[in-house]
Amino acid sequence: MEGASLGPLVEGSRVLVCCGTGGVGKTTTAAALAIEGARRGRDAVVVTIDPAKRLASALGLQELAATAHEIDRSLWDVDRTAAPGGRLSALMLDTRTTFDELVRRFALTSEQAEQILANRFYRNVAGALSGTQEYMAAEKLHELHEEGGYELIVVDTPPSRHALDFLDAPHRMTRLLDNRIFRLLMVPTRTSLRVVGGALQAFLHTVGRVVGSEVIDDVIEFFRAFEGMEEGFRTRAQRVMELLADPGTRFVLITSPRRDAVDEAQFFADRLAETETPVAALVVNRVHPRFGDERPEGLEARAATLTGKDDDPEAKAAAGRLAALYSNLAEFQEIADREERTLSGVQDRIGSATVVHVPFLACDVHDFASLRLVGHHLFDG
Ligand SMILES: Nc1ncnc2c1ncn2[C@@H]1O[C@H](COP(=O)(O)OP(=O)(O)O)[C@@H](O)[C@H]1O
Ligand SMILES: [Mg+2]
Repeated sequence: MEGASLGPLVEGSRVLVCCGTGGVGKTTTAAALAIEGARRGRDAVVVTIDPAKRLASALGLQELAATAHEIDRSLWDVDRTAAPGGRLSALMLDTRTTFDELVRRFALTSEQAEQILANRFYRNVAGALSGTQEYMAAEKLHELHEEGGYELIVVDTPPSRHALDFLDAPHRMTRLLDNRIFRLLMVPTRTSLRVVGGALQAFLHTVGRVVGSEVIDDVIEFFRAFEGMEEGFRTRAQRVMELLADPGTRFVLITSPRRDAVDEAQFFADRLAETETPVAALVVNRVHPRFGDERPEGLEARAATLTGKDDDPEAKAAAGRLAALYSNLAEFQEIADREERTLSGVQDRIGSATVVHVPFLACDVHDFASLRLVGHHLFDG
């Protein structure tokens, strides 16, 4: 959109959640939004998830970066044009550490916490359960919101195949806690496990044959150790859901101009609309630029006339090169046409959200200079 800017969003939101399907540019956009927040004088923090190595190092996020650290102003305000007072911090989501902290927070005693943290099922499996990473991202957001004192929190979301997983994570956490098998496993003695019936025993027996019965013992022990903590977890998940539904929390949907990404974005937008938290902005990333209005067919025709006319080998070679450039341009126009078709109407479909386009840049976006380029398209209209 000509003239559209995400500036007001960055200035007026408390939380920005960057969602979209994998690889569309969520991490890049999240970083650019937080930088702009800082540039506009806010105390901003970005929670990144699996940033590319070079971006991580640009943000000062090497191995141990699970807690937020402030980035030196000289790095993000090189030309000293930013408003005074802004601060930029970053952290990298560490699912395991976040989960550990949650366990410690809600354990009734420190022994209970240690028992869970040492449990083999917890150590090897719990972090990898589907939805855990999404939930921990939401949990981190909640923690920063309650305790960090930031004015703007930008969260990246995990590289899940479905953008919706993030929204579902708190529900999934409560569903796990309400799960029947989970409850049965919480029954305190083995005798009662026998009482719970043949079906569950048969199930455990089968699973035990596949993964080894000691694994089953670990699982049972894990859920037993969890006893008394469900309420804390459930209440917490409820609060996380409330924060996601808060009017100060805005969703920025990122997509590429490709059909699959646009479909996924549309699905996500519809789902958000149902929960009465509409998408605040749509970022269409990696859009191919359009050079002039000439149709691809016209360009191809022109390319065809340029070949093989001349006897002079040098002129012939030059004509050949020019023809190749025309063909190339024709291809570009075709791509631009296709992208335009794919995107047509997407703005109507997402309601009143601001739509911004970011072109396919010639370089990867891995440092402050290239993030500034992206920022130019997001904020300068
Ligand atoms: N507009 C763009 N032009 C060129 N490269 C881009 C652009 N946006 C993102 N990239 C690059 O694409 C890759 C994926 O971006 P990333 O933000 O990590 O996606 P996601 O977090 O959605 O998986 C990164 O290497 C990034 O530098
Ligand atoms: Mg990412």
